Amino acid sequence: AFARGVPILAFLAFAGCVRGPQSTFAGAGTEASSVEGLFWWMLWGGVAIWIVVLGVGVYASRPRPAAHDEIVGKRMILWGGVVFPTVTLAILLGFGLALMPPFRGPAEGQAIAVSGERFWWRVAYDVEPGQTGVARGLPPGGIESANEIVLPLGVRTEILLGSPDVIHSFWVPAIAGKVDAIPGRVNRIVLEPTKTGVFNGVCAEFCGDAHAQMAFRVVVVTPEEYAAEVARQASPAVLTGTRGEELFLANGCGACHSVRGTEAQGRVGPDLTHVGSRRTIAAGILDNTPENIAQFVRATGHVKQGVEMPAYPMLDDDELTAIADWLGALQ
Ligand code: CUA
Repeated sequence: AFARGVPILAFLAFAGCVRGPQSTFAGAGTEASSVEGLFWWMLWGGVAIWIVVLGVGVYASRPRPAAHDEIVGKRMILWGGVVFPTVTLAILLGFGLALMPPFRGPAEGQAIAVSGERFWWRVAYDVEPGQTGVARGLPPGGIESANEIVLPLGVRTEILLGSPDVIHSFWVPAIAGKVDAIPGRVNRIVLEPTKTGVFNGVCAEFCGDAHAQMAFRVVVVTPEEYAAEVARQASPAVLTGTRGEELFLANGCGACHSVRGTEAQGRVGPDLTHVGSRRTIAAGILDNTPENIAQFVRATGHVKQGVEMPAYPMLDDDELTAIADWLGALQ
């Protein structure tokens, strides 16, 4: 059974090395690349230590005359047991510490505020960098969106992290290391993407039932496209006066959700002003299609256990379709 288990274990060990959109080995950010470099140094450093220790063990266990032992044994303890590990570990420690200062360095441009909330991510663009106060998990100001963060390529963008409920952890493995989002304070992380594309982010701190379904997307675009994207996010809803909007408001959705440019001004749940342009719904777990929106609204807790949004089984298919079509059209 053990022999059959080896390939499975090997597969699991290397499955994390695939350079997908959620891999530290994707090389899509300055910090992630440093972490990857450090990982390989630590790995080969560890292999070197393992080989030396094993070699010493084999050498020490061979049959030999007792007189020889005393002198060689003392040298072994000095060089193999004290000098070698001290020097090797000091070099690895120094290398690790030398990588750290750039992560705390200054950011460029406007900051983006991100609030981890059970079980989704509130996002606000165009926030003053270096903010420390928080309201509802976010520093004041900014243009709200949710579960998708657009970043400019090659720019050191400050992410200000907060939370209104419990501790979450913000992690985009392909771009940078992880930092906790803690209620009542603002933590910061600087992201510097080095590749355009769509990358996966996750919550990396257990926060409740739907912790594993608290994901998001990071979309890296050129600085010009980023400016256009922020301007688009700032604009009000593109489509109003439809039956879908009427049903949305009549069913009280506006008490929790904002759709800027309409009567919906709620602040509890995700801002839906441009929800149709996002790649996913329900915090990165479903593709953004009208069918999935309808399915989610009909049975929220079935799709995502522990979600705060109530289900709307009383809406018929026709009504759900009208609402989903309207939300999908909010590009
Ligand atoms: Cu939020 Cu785990």
